[in-house]
Amino acid sequence: MSADTNSRQVKRLADYQAPDFFIETTDLTFELAADKTLVTAVLQFRRANPNALELRLDGQQLLLLAVHYNERLLQPSEYQCDAQQLRLSVTDDDFKLTIKTEICPQANTALEGLYFANGSFCTQCEAEGFRRITYYLDRPDVLSVFSTTIIADANQYPYLLSNGNKVADRLLAGGQRLVRWQDPFPKPCYLFALVAGDFELRQDQYTTKSGRVVELAFYVEKGQGNKALFALEALKRSMRWDEERFGLEYDLDTYMVVAVDFFNMGAMENKGLNVFNSKYVLVSNNTATDTDFFNVESIIGHEYFHNWTGNRVTCRDWFQLSLKEGLTVFRDQEFSRDMGSATVNRIHAVQVIRTAQFAEDASPMAHPIQPQQVMEMNNFYTVTVYDKGAEVIRMLHTLLGEDGFQAGMRLYVQRHDGQAVTCEHFVQAMQDANHYDLSAFRRWYQQSGTPELRVQRSYDVHKQQLTLTLRQHTPATADQATKLPLVLPIRYQLVDGERSESGLFVMQLQEESLVFTDVSATALPVLLEDFSAPVRLLHDYSEQELLRIAKAASNGFARWDALQSCWMLWLQQYIQQGGAFHLPEALFELYATLLNQPLPDKSLTAELLKVPDYGTFAESFPQIPVDSILAASAAFRLQISEHLSKALLQCYQQHSQAAAEYNEEAVGQRALKNRCLDYLSMHHGDSQTLLEQQYHTASGMTDKLAVLKASLHSEHPVFESLMQHFANEWQQDVLVLDKWFSLHAANPTEQVFDTIAALCQHPKFSWQNPNRVRALFHAFAMQNPGQFHRLDGRGYQLLTQTLLLLDPINPQVAARLVTPLLSWHRYDSERQILIKQALRQLLEKDGISNDLYEKVSKALA
Ligand code: ARG
Ligand code: ZN
Repeated sequence: MSADTNSRQVKRLADYQAPDFFIETTDLTFELAADKTLVTAVLQFRRANPNALELRLDGQQLLLLAVHYNERLLQPSEYQCDAQQLRLSVTDDDFKLTIKTEICPQANTALEGLYFANGSFCTQCEAEGFRRITYYLDRPDVLSVFSTTIIADANQYPYLLSNGNKVADRLLAGGQRLVRWQDPFPKPCYLFALVAGDFELRQDQYTTKSGRVVELAFYVEKGQGNKALFALEALKRSMRWDEERFGLEYDLDTYMVVAVDFFNMGAMENKGLNVFNSKYVLVSNNTATDTDFFNVESIIGHEYFHNWTGNRVTCRDWFQLSLKEGLTVFRDQEFSRDMGSATVNRIHAVQVIRTAQFAEDASPMAHPIQPQQVMEMNNFYTVTVYDKGAEVIRMLHTLLGEDGFQAGMRLYVQRHDGQAVTCEHFVQAMQDANHYDLSAFRRWYQQSGTPELRVQRSYDVHKQQLTLTLRQHTPATADQATKLPLVLPIRYQLVDGERSESGLFVMQLQEESLVFTDVSATALPVLLEDFSAPVRLLHDYSEQELLRIAKAASNGFARWDALQSCWMLWLQQYIQQGGAFHLPEALFELYATLLNQPLPDKSLTAELLKVPDYGTFAESFPQIPVDSILAASAAFRLQISEHLSKALLQCYQQHSQAAAEYNEEAVGQRALKNRCLDYLSMHHGDSQTLLEQQYHTASGMTDKLAVLKASLHSEHPVFESLMQHFANEWQQDVLVLDKWFSLHAANPTEQVFDTIAALCQHPKFSWQNPNRVRALFHAFAMQNPGQFHRLDGRGYQLLTQTLLLLDPINPQVAARLVTPLLSWHRYDSERQILIKQALRQLLEKDGISNDLYEKVSKALA
């Protein structure tokens, strides 16, 4: 087998085999230098399978210097070493290997394993990055006790960090320093971390409920310390919340968080030493929006919650990723909900499912929350595994109730603390703790796709009885042809005059009915409240009925959801009537009421006042009518801004005095005010002063950015000059500059191509930095549908050329950016031809990464 076919191998869950060997202790020594780092790994092995005669260690991009078996130096003839593995025959049950390798952190632009960027060393080992550090059993079911010695230049790298507790720290000859760490908790190597650099340190303490004092330490870029204080407070809130809601307490004496600007994803839960993308740590009113603050709190929570759901109880293999990610997203969503507007948090989570996740189900990359086969694991850190995974956990919570769910959690932790387990173990714990049969529910783990739930109503006048016939059907997906009925917890509310009745209906079969007796002919059932199951609900409600719910439902989510359905109806009418369509008077009345008397939850009010964005509209069509959606959205916005200009201005003025801080009331006021501003900005003449005034007097980044977004969205001439001003003001702050890059990339005019070309030459732009690349190109591909989907193919070509350049530098980031091209079948035939041509260009490129290959080849299959 050639190296190439070998590396393109697909791994299957069905082929899982327990490890033949365990590694009881792992003692690592790093002699750090950017161009040449020496790693000495002393590994104490124990045979697990008496029949195993060969030890196969994973390794990638390593230069092997020496291997000792116990104390004996092995000759090269005694082992085999290729691009992926180090293999040797072993007969002893217990033995020690000492492996010396050399790696080059500064050449590591993939940012996996140990890399050097921005003057510091940093690691990212999940999922399979540890094999780029040393030869190892790089799989999550091998748990080992780690000790780490770091030797580096004392002046250049004052902080030498790794997992656990610091047990030695001394100066060596030649200006070197040695620090040694020990982590008492056995862990898989994906949770290993090392950081070395010069940082500003912010410290605090947290006392756990049992009275232990934990040292909290945040390491951030020099001069940025104050911007870490919100995250530090958020960490303490997370720790308290996990004790109160889940009874889970922190277990080490220190909790460290390092913020770095070069990072492939959001953050990483390495035991005792989280590494974060600086974007999710560093915030201040001046530099960060309310959304940024929200994200920091939620991701700080997420990584912290992993300490129990991920670290103490980890995954047996990577097909089980949702075991820790789905559960931890559920936990962070619950945390955020308790910290801010519960309804709006739920709305945002549901939007992720209905847009990105449903789109993934419909794409060539469709997979269940427990994928069955994987080529490149990094491709499976998806909205399906994470967010649909969290919905599956939420359904368990709905079925079992808070007390039942917590009983299941306690049993899960009690049974599996210190183990590497499967999703099945989790479900079994939930089942056993509640004596609740979850056998049918388990299908959610293996079945991919978006279930459709069709509801039909029939009313019997004589019996005064309303019957709902519910039918479920999951269309075939790219990965799976046949589908079975799923267990669907359906929360409902029946609105009948003054009376309202709510409950939970657990649907099990393909078809079932739900009967309401003693109800009037106009009784309206609201189904799937709070999105109690991740399905597409298909109903025949009229505009009048939906507006009734939107006006009157007691549940804020239900009101928003009914309006979403209205918008889909109106979009269809707009398309049918060729642009002559006018939004109904009833909507303007509803909006006028909301503007004159906002709900107590102002963030929710702002959501209700929003025309759905392109992605939301697009997802309801098997084939996406790009141009009609864009035309309709613009027409809808214009109609609202014209009909309600007075009410919008009044509401804007009434809410313009929000406190600068990040708190629920102020966030809501800003959201509402800036929603109004977005509409007002469509009248270019009248709004110029308003926009400039808000921009120049803004108390924080939320209000500033809102001006830029509104003027971009409305193609207001003031956009250019304000952007210039913004660039001058924020030249030195890359995280703020990223916002500016993204705004430019979302420019809906053809000028965007020249602008992007120029920005690639900007002194702060770097192809090596994922935040910069994403700021430009993710924004272009995802937030600029008009230019991206141009019929001359220029948009697709820009992305394709970008990917060809980026793939050799950072395949993980490239493979994320390719997503919008995979769904070529969702577009008209002209666009299909252009997109497929782009995909072929990628596939034909020599040496394309596994990351891109897996996705592109599936898309073209
Ligand atoms: N476990 C990290 C989290 O908290 C994400 C790591 C992602 N790694 C990757 N290779 N995609 O969600
Ligand atoms: Zn996670």
